[in-house]
Amino acid sequence: MARVAIVTGGTRGIGEAICQRLKRQGHTVVANFGGDEEKAKIFTNETGIPAYKWDVGDHQACLDGCERVEAEHGPIDIVINNAGITRDGTLHKMSFDDWNDVMRVNLGGCFNMAKATFPGMRERSWGRIVNIGSINGQAGQYGQVNYAAAKSGIHGFTKALAQEGAKFGVTVNAIAPGYIDTDMVAAVPEPVLQKIVAKIPVGRLGHAEEIARGVAFLTSDNGGFVTGSTMSINGGQHMY
Ligand code: CAA
Repeated sequence: MARVAIVTGGTRGIGEAICQRLKRQGHTVVANFGGDEEKAKIFTNETGIPAYKWDVGDHQACLDGCERVEAEHGPIDIVINNAGITRDGTLHKMSFDDWNDVMRVNLGGCFNMAKATFPGMRERSWGRIVNIGSINGQAGQYGQVNYAAAKSGIHGFTKALAQEGAKFGVTVNAIAPGYIDTDMVAAVPEPVLQKIVAKIPVGRLGHAEEIARGVAFLTSDNGGFVTGSTMSINGGQHMY
C-alpha cells in the first residue's frame, strides 16, 4: 500500500538512494535536508521528490517541518532517520562542539523526528521507523567517540521505541551500514580508507542502493514481524 514517507538527509548519499527506492515502491516520498540547497534543487529536478530544509537536531524545527509535510502530503507513516554528520578526531583533539554537534544531529534527530511522527502512527495503528545506525556504533572506531556513541545510542533508542510501538502496529528497526561509497566515506584520508577496505571480507565499499534495499524490506507490509532489530549491511566487516 502506498504511504507517505520522509527520509532525513534525503538529498544525498544513502538518503538519496532510499528516497528513490521508496518512490519506486509506490510511496509518496519527501526528503528533508539540512545544508546544501544547490544539491537539493538538483535532486528535486532529477527525481521529482520535494525537499524540505530544516535541521533535524532542532526539536521545534522537526515538529514544524513534519506538520508542514503532513499538511501538504498527508499523514507520515514511514520515517527514515538517515541524517548524520561526522566530526572525526581523537578524543584529545575533539572539541565539545564536535561532540555535541554529532550527538545533537545523529541521535537527537531520531528523537525529534519520532516525537513529531510516532503519535500519529500510534493513532492510525500502522507505522515504520528505520534508523540508520552504523558499524562504528556496533564496533567503535578510532577517532569517532562522538559518532560511535551517537550511533550506538541509535541502536538502544531503536530497541526501546520498538517495545513501545509493537502493540500499535508500529515497527522500529535499525540498519547498521558498513563503509558505503558516499561523500562521507570519501572524506576519510585515502591511506586510512585503504586499510579499512582491506578489512572488508567482500573486498569493496558498499553501495547506497544496498542499504536502500534493506529499508524497502523493513518498511514493507512483509516486514511487519520484524521490530527492534538491527540489520547489518557491511560486507562482513563486523559480525555482530
Ligand atoms: N587503530 C589504532 N591506531 C590508529 C588507528 C586505528 N584504527 N588509526 C590511526 N591510528 C594511529 C596512527 O597510526 C597514528 O599513530 P602514530 O602517530 O603512532 O603514527 C595516530 O593514530 C594518528 O593517526 P592520524 O595520522 O590519522 O591522526 P590524525 O589526528 O591526523 O587523524 C583521525 C585521526 C581523524 C581519526 C584519522 O585517522 C581518520 O580520519 N580516521 C578514520 C576515521 C573513520 O573511519 N571515520 C569513518 C568516517 S565514515 C563513517 O563514519 C560512516 C560510517 O558509518 C561507517
